[in-house]
Amino acid sequence: MTSGRGTPGQAEIRVRPMLESDIEAVARIGSLSSQTPWTEVSVLTYFLREDTIFAVAEEGENGPLIGFAALLLAPPESDVLDIVVETACRGRGVGYALLDGICDLALIKGVDTIFLEVRPSNTPARRLYDKLGFTPIGVRKGYYTDPREDAVSMVRRRHIIPLHRE
Ligand SMILES: CC(C)(COP(=O)(O)OP(=O)(O)OC[C@H]1O[C@@H](n2cnc3c(N)ncnc32)[C@H](O)[C@@H]1OP(=O)(O)O)[C@@H](O)C(=O)NCCC(=O)NCCS
Repeated sequence: MTSGRGTPGQAEIRVRPMLESDIEAVARIGSLSSQTPWTEVSVLTYFLREDTIFAVAEEGENGPLIGFAALLLAPPESDVLDIVVETACRGRGVGYALLDGICDLALIKGVDTIFLEVRPSNTPARRLYDKLGFTPIGVRKGYYTDPREDAVSMVRRRHIIPLHRE
């Protein structure tokens, strides 16, 4: 699907749609989520939903999974459910490649507007979203618990160019 940068000596990052055989690895990485930790049951539940897409990042072709992203689709809109990168693999462009890749997948499904929420204190995530063209649209008071924190709502809009038919 897409590739991200790697540092010299490291395998290239490959982003692809999630398969059923990835559930265990996604749940393991998702247990590190800064929102609600994922379990195998919650990953499976969303994976089976027709309105949800997952993308995973792997280290090289068929390498270990090092991150995933999930979107809830309601074309032409969508919400980012989560994006998580394995702790040891952060800061290498994996998050960027994942979010960029899943946004492209969503575009193919007719999504031109993507919303998300993020903790104001989550600097890596906020930088990632800024870099990918998300802009703040408001604050949701007391949105997060444990610890309690407001959420910054962000949006990215893309124009879908309709196919021209004679
Ligand atoms: C947020 C997260 C997905 C980013 O993934 P990542 O693979 O580390 O991100 P990338 O390496 O693609 O970095 C993208 C940008 O984010 C910023 N960034 C990444 N790590 C950072 C850090 N530790 N501190 C500050 N900025 C950081 C950088 O600006 C980077 O841009 P650059 O390539 O120009 O330096 C990852 O930190 C993570 O899994 N966090 C825990 C889960 C989470 O908080 N998810 C977000 C839910 S809203």
